[in-house]
Amino acid sequence: MLKIKGNYFILETNHTSMLIKGDGRAEYLYYGERVPDFSGAEWLSPEVYWDGAVHPLSLFLQAGRGEAREPSVSVRFADGSYATDFRFVRARIVPRPVLEGLPSAYGEAKSLKLEFLDEPSRLKLCLYYTAFADSDAITVCATLTNGGKKPVSVLSFASLHLEVWGNDFSFTTFDGAWASERRRHTRPLECGKCENASYIGSSSAFHNPFVLLGRKGDVYGVNLIYSGNHREFAESDATRRTRLVTGINPYQFDWELAPGETFFAPEAVMVYGKTDEEVSERMHEFVSRHIVRGKWKDRERPVLVNNWEGTYFNFTREKILNIARKAAEAGAELFVLDDGWFGKRDSDTCSLGDWTDYAEKTGGLESLADEVRAMGLKFGIWIEPEMISEDSELYRKHPEYAMKIARRDPQRMRHQLMLNLVDPQVQGYVFRAVSRVITMCKAAYVKWDYNRYMTDCFDRNTRGGEYFHRYMLGLYSVISRLVERFPNVLFESCAGGGSRFDLGMLCFMPQTWTSDNTDARERTVIQSGTAYAYPQSTMGAHVSASPNEQTGNSNSLQTRFNVACGGVLGYESDLTKADDAELDEIRAQIAFYKKYRSVLQFGVYHRLGDALNGEWSGFITVARDGSKAVSVIAVPEKRTGEFNLRVKFAGLDENALYSVKYRRADGSFVPVCQAHGAMLNRGSFALQNLFSETDVRSCSNPLYTRLFVFEKVSARKKRS
Ligand code: GLA
Repeated sequence: MLKIKGNYFILETNHTSMLIKGDGRAEYLYYGERVPDFSGAEWLSPEVYWDGAVHPLSLFLQAGRGEAREPSVSVRFADGSYATDFRFVRARIVPRPVLEGLPSAYGEAKSLKLEFLDEPSRLKLCLYYTAFADSDAITVCATLTNGGKKPVSVLSFASLHLEVWGNDFSFTTFDGAWASERRRHTRPLECGKCENASYIGSSSAFHNPFVLLGRKGDVYGVNLIYSGNHREFAESDATRRTRLVTGINPYQFDWELAPGETFFAPEAVMVYGKTDEEVSERMHEFVSRHIVRGKWKDRERPVLVNNWEGTYFNFTREKILNIARKAAEAGAELFVLDDGWFGKRDSDTCSLGDWTDYAEKTGGLESLADEVRAMGLKFGIWIEPEMISEDSELYRKHPEYAMKIARRDPQRMRHQLMLNLVDPQVQGYVFRAVSRVITMCKAAYVKWDYNRYMTDCFDRNTRGGEYFHRYMLGLYSVISRLVERFPNVLFESCAGGGSRFDLGMLCFMPQTWTSDNTDARERTVIQSGTAYAYPQSTMGAHVSASPNEQTGNSNSLQTRFNVACGGVLGYESDLTKADDAELDEIRAQIAFYKKYRSVLQFGVYHRLGDALNGEWSGFITVARDGSKAVSVIAVPEKRTGEFNLRVKFAGLDENALYSVKYRRADGSFVPVCQAHGAMLNRGSFALQNLFSETDVRSCSNPLYTRLFVFEKVSARKKRS
């Protein structure tokens, strides 16, 4: 709900409100839990300092106005000067803007548009605030339009500048590396600035764009709908204000805005909640309803089997068909042929760019896919379209397609270079190549990989300071055309595991491969960190071999499944090596997953415990009607002789009576108790006797897990 009442502008969602005032300048007066009205709003205004200065909660900061902090919008004019004086002009309620070339949220029709003008240069800054009532999210789209006669260089232009009173906040970021993505880090801000950014061209595994600003009782979560270099920072100072800023990273950014042109910053989203959990829940709703789109948005995602960890490059047609056969026998629904099926790809040193069948190896991809389908499975395929190997036909024919700087030896990563997707000709090539692959094997699913960082950025027709962003525009243009052309295909984005897990990619591809680390112990941390911002239906999670390929830890098949069922389930090992007992166990797992899939993928998720530092952790996902729930609890270290490890659940229907049982490896259930949701949400329940050492006797460094199912027996009778 958007309202303009004189100089006051109100945004309301189901549980939050924001009040902005525009009068010469514009400022935030309130953002938090929903209030019935804004009586007393005048008392929210900033104080006037001894020198006459006021320090409001700003919607942006600009250069040249005596501001002591870094501007969020900064330009250089043709005369070499930097100062701007954007003044508030007017507020209107308008249709939501279309962000040229960029992914954005959908599902609300109107925005509150605030216009600011730098009169001397005729540079116009517009902020469009949209309230997504059902998910308690507010988004901002920011634009800069050059109304002057000379070009202007945009040096930085943040998408969102949120400012709140108080300097007692902490800043939480989700950082990591390959195979160790999105580990939560929280530090007090006190006085000063803390940055979270990417410099490698993609949103990265190092610092995810999702961040939290929190203190007891107030938490603000912010994310950016963008997959390239981003920067968030939080800053507190002696004016007792804290700001949270997100946008394109100004690093190597210098965008020339010709007269009449508009620059569109990526859309940013903010969510307020009283706790981290409330923010996560609201972010999940926002992502599920207003980011993920298309045929697969609300559809249950297929259980897949992928051959990567089972074979790596070393497979034959026979091997693939044997794995697929086992997959079909176990009840999987989709087989995914990973890296190694194209060009002459027997290792990672060649063939990227040659998206043609390696027929000597596949025995003919088309017929291979047909055979897989004849087993009752859908067929999916891996592809890494943004890359080129120097040892490839494509490179021999079009060396100019590669991202390189003349007379410099390019930086190779995993032996590969990137394609210069800034060039429309290269975009055309990628679009055609991927279309051909999908059509040739009638793929129902595509895993779109991206396995390196961006270096050697250069395009002869592009200014250097525009390269990183123009790359993203090129990529988005290609993938938007592809998802439009193949609306039934389920796309899963991947970047050396989870190095591009962001809202930009999720606008096109409904799920993301969470991490190349498939070890259950480490996955509990990675998935729990990821789930702060992204719902279960977006997280690819696979059961792989034990001992684990990446860590050497070994775990029971049951534990590996219990962890993987926290996302979109798959299996990623050589299933031909599984014995009958293991295959039976897998069959039972898949049957269980299918039965509870809607709640596992689309239920309301609550994080339990603390996966990073706690003695136990896990999640519970509750059906939207409260009728059932599944919870998985993991204990990383079970100390013999210690008692009273206790777990609390969450989110169950307080008035409903549930029967609670836990699942055994063979698929049978052991009854635990019957209890009302109110009790289950509040009590501390004993874990001790639920774990069995025999499950893990042959494991090294095992993770103890239990999967609980809650089924509503009846609703509590209301007292008359
Ligand atoms: C990346 C992906 C893996 C696999 C390999 C193939 O690392 O994350 O899942 O597809 O590439 O080369």
